[in-house]
Amino acid sequence: SRLLQTHAASARWHLDAAVALDIDGVLVRGAQTLDEGRRALRMLSDGSSALGRIPFVLLTNGGGVSEAAKAADLSRRLGVPISPRQVVLAHSPMQALAARYAARHVLVVGGAGRRCAEIARAYGFGNVSTPDDVVAWRPAAWPFMAPPPAPPARPRDYAADPFHAVLVFHDSFDFGRDLQIVTDVLRARGGVAGGAPASRQSVPLYMSNADLIFANDFAQPRLGQGAFHVCLRAMWAALTAGAPLEYTCFGKPFRVQYDFAERLLDRLALDAAPAAAPARLRARRIYAIGDNPAADIAGANGAGWTSLLVRTGVFSGANDPTHPAAAVFDHVADAVEWII
Ligand code: G3P
Ligand code: MG
Repeated sequence: SRLLQTHAASARWHLDAAVALDIDGVLVRGAQTLDEGRRALRMLSDGSSALGRIPFVLLTNGGGVSEAAKAADLSRRLGVPISPRQVVLAHSPMQALAARYAARHVLVVGGAGRRCAEIARAYGFGNVSTPDDVVAWRPAAWPFMAPPPAPPARPRDYAADPFHAVLVFHDSFDFGRDLQIVTDVLRARGGVAGGAPASRQSVPLYMSNADLIFANDFAQPRLGQGAFHVCLRAMWAALTAGAPLEYTCFGKPFRVQYDFAERLLDRLALDAAPAAAPARLRARRIYAIGDNPAADIAGANGAGWTSLLVRTGVFSGANDPTHPAAAVFDHVADAVEWII
């Protein structure tokens, strides 16, 4: 088999290979769990087999929930135990920003209700507001919510409480409201919501995922967080007559995501073999299985991993030998079997 040819079949074996699985369009499609996804996870969790001793992570541009919640949901749907330490969400690497903004007021955008604000707090961002909070403070800030959000138990005066950064954690559930409040804060002198516009961007912007589209259980791919980026860039250009909009993006295909995933894979391998030499881990071959060429394949190739493309999500094309993916498969279980 491929892996046994390239990696001696021995107890040390799990140091020489690792797997990163995409989620949407590979293991699930929205509420639908793919049978071949269940089969692939059974193979990777069968400790009696060669595949079952390979460390694997779930590397998704999804988010809006905690890693623990995503792990529990996947364990239930796929029928195998998934640890939160095996889950990399789009916003997982944004934890590294928490120290810089621990006490500084940040605007966290995306997801349903206050879930992303709670995730940010759990990461260590100690002073978090959402666009809904700003509209609850002044409903006229975005007069197109009927009814407007209820005022919070402890009202906050955003005119006296500048923002120091904007972090888009997940897909916007209200593009209009979020485009309005995000451009308000990015433009306002000193980051004060409702403050007079400055001539250029006033606070840093961080986004977690650039996917223009993704696959769920609708017949055609749906707009992802990348569509919000397109709208925000267009709105910014229209409002500022072309002032530059600078932001840091996380998620696949960006290297930060792959470096974060590799550290998780290192920890999983070292759990099994504490004496493993770091050089052995660096020589490891990492197989990344995904459905989106612009994210999963481009990102894996850019990180020096082996990219495997499946037809169950965004991509549905032919097995074109010139495709930048190392190989193309009908579904994820085929790709996992190809590894061995
Ligand atoms: O919001 C999820 C979407 O952007 C893609 O998720 O799991 O295919 O990386 P995934
Ligand atoms: Mg996908």
